[in-house]
Amino acid sequence: MVRILVVGATGNIGREVAKACAEEGHLVFALVRAATRVSKVALVEELSAAGIQLVDGDLQDPASVEQAFRSCHPVEAVISAVAGSQVADQIHLIHSSQKAETVKRFLPSEFGVVHTTAKAEVPEIVGARISIFKQIQAAGLPYTLVHSNGFMEDWFSGLGQLGKTYPPNPVLLFGDGSIHGVATTRRDIAIYTAKSLDDPRTLNKRLVIAPSCNFATQTDLVRKWEGVSGQKIQMELMKAEELEAQIQGSASLKSSSNYSSTTYLQLAKAMWIAGDCSHPLPSDAVEASALYPDHKVTSPEEFYAQLLLKGPG
Ligand SMILES: NC(=O)c1ccc[n+]([C@@H]2O[C@H](COP(=O)([O-])OP(=O)(O)OC[C@H]3O[C@@H](n4cnc5c(N)ncnc54)[C@H](OP(=O)(O)O)[C@@H]3O)[C@@H](O)[C@H]2O)c1
Repeated sequence: MVRILVVGATGNIGREVAKACAEEGHLVFALVRAATRVSKVALVEELSAAGIQLVDGDLQDPASVEQAFRSCHPVEAVISAVAGSQVADQIHLIHSSQKAETVKRFLPSEFGVVHTTAKAEVPEIVGARISIFKQIQAAGLPYTLVHSNGFMEDWFSGLGQLGKTYPPNPVLLFGDGSIHGVATTRRDIAIYTAKSLDDPRTLNKRLVIAPSCNFATQTDLVRKWEGVSGQKIQMELMKAEELEAQIQGSASLKSSSNYSSTTYLQLAKAMWIAGDCSHPLPSDAVEASALYPDHKVTSPEEFYAQLLLKGPG
């Protein structure tokens, strides 16, 4: 049993990671902002019911992070699942982990493509992550970087179009719709993350999540959804040059989410034009489904069957 401090446990991937760690038999503490205990009551109750102990803290308040480490002493593993805009704030987690001298594994908030082999540039996402990784190494903290590739809920719900929670009709295919991407449900990503955190094979490695059954082109996704739903989907193409022109021309207006509209276009380019989920693994990486063959992931077809049952909205 590992004593784990999870930051971001009230977020989309973080809640799944915290619950998966508790299910693996670990002792899980979740650093949560005081205001969030009030604004996300149902979720906080769900986490408590799963045996997760909440501790007050705010990543932007270093003293509160130190206090959280003291109250959960000895913290043996730290998992961060903060959103992109908070990635730089993880520096306070690094400092507290170093000071604690008990942390045997540090998992920063990655949960994207392996950016060392990626061809497309997504500076808003990648820049702070590289800097944080350097700080982790400089602090001498043992780490695992979880490169989940796409979240199925974000990438496959919209047949490859980000920002859609249900398959759109018509759907926009980037390029010619023939480049393979890969996505995995948040639950499966969380289970792999939980399995990796005390596994010697993932020590100071990148854990890449790329189960072969979850690779698909956008055209494959359309066919799979049509097969499950019985619906005929119209496909419209956005050529690579057109997407590039939009990236170059788009103002960095903040969208309603964590990233600018430019970043969403760059992410579409990364997945569906540059094929950044499909490059050979770097030498410091291990693949999750090969490491944990007993875990059966949700396939795109199973995911679509569940989505159809839930319906739009
Ligand atoms: N590969 C993909 O397809 C994909 C898709 C989406 C995200 N991601 C990545 O996954 C990671 C997590 O993203 P997400 O969408 O799950 O994030 P999210 O849902 O926005 O959750 C962010 C979490 O961080 C917490 N947080 C924010 N500021 C904090 C602070 N100052 N102190 C303590 N906690 C704080 C939030 O707490 P509150 O509840 O208090 O706000 C929340 O629990 C990011 O690295 C992101 O880039 C990947």
